[in-house]
Amino acid sequence: MLNRLPGGIEPHPQVRGRSILTLMELPPEGVEAVIHTAGALASLDRRQWPSLLEGRMIGLIFERPSTRTRVSFEVGVSHLGGHPVVLAGRDMQMGRGERIRDTALVLSRMLDAIVLRTGPHETIEELAEHATVPVINSLTYGHHPCQGLADVLTLRQRFGTTRHLRAAYVGDGNNCCLSLMVAGALCGMHVVAACPPGYEPDPDVVEWADAAGRPLGGGASVVTDPSVAVADAHAVYTDTWVSMGDEEDGDRRRRDLDAYRIDDRLLTFATPDAVVMHPLPAHHGEEVSDGLLYGPRSAVWDQAENRINVQAALLAHVLG
Ligand code: CP
Ligand code: NVA
Repeated sequence: MLNRLPGGIEPHPQVRGRSILTLMELPPEGVEAVIHTAGALASLDRRQWPSLLEGRMIGLIFERPSTRTRVSFEVGVSHLGGHPVVLAGRDMQMGRGERIRDTALVLSRMLDAIVLRTGPHETIEELAEHATVPVINSLTYGHHPCQGLADVLTLRQRFGTTRHLRAAYVGDGNNCCLSLMVAGALCGMHVVAACPPGYEPDPDVVEWADAAGRPLGGGASVVTDPSVAVADAHAVYTDTWVSMGDEEDGDRRRRDLDAYRIDDRLLTFATPDAVVMHPLPAHHGEEVSDGLLYGPRSAVWDQAENRINVQAALLAHVLG
């Protein structure tokens, strides 16, 4: 395996060998190192990527549906010379009741890293507790750290820096909201979420992101009025009103969040060069207008493509 990461830095000592469940386990320099490598990978033809993961077996377990995450991990691992081993949760013995602990112990004997998409965040915490190889969260109900990394890289590419950038998240204070707050704060951004009462993000994580972001020129906060959040924002971000696992409550959520749609009117409060962001999949006619999603200010397709770059960079640092 080549030692050198593109971009001329070494695998970060505080990322190497770690499980990444929220990004809160990393210092700002660790996140910076991953973003730096991801940016360097993004500037290369993927067919020219170095074989940083040669001989490495990366398990990708999906207990929930996925388009972007699954394809971006498979593509990124393959371009770095590694081998993705994709497993659908329903096809595994875990789905029939095999203990998470036993699954972790067995897969650790066979794989170099385990990437898991599941529901309750406690499930991935239990897997990571018992695994002897790094575990990476590819979405739980609580966090979506790989998405947060892609969001930050996309903003850095657009604006040249993330320091002192202001991002407004409008809608449900869900996994993507929290991971944007954590990743953004660790890169010096201020992320303001506008959520209706009852849909606010986990206050402990908001407090953590605010404290982590302040020394870097950023922070995190929550308001109820979308126009207050969007005032002078460089990025206006939204996500589905009905996340995986929330389906039974869908009608009530759509009613409660109806005033939290992002559209041209709301964008008038943002900076003139503000971009529109969404992790996808989008729900047309709900959280974002088609005009913004497909318009010139949309950064969503770059966000999706950057999933390849950040996850490849993350694995290169974790397994470096
Ligand atoms: N944004 C995201 O994680 O998309 P998928 O659910 O398609 O993986
Ligand atoms: N908040 C959404 C993100 C999907 C990528 C969900 O959890 O379903």
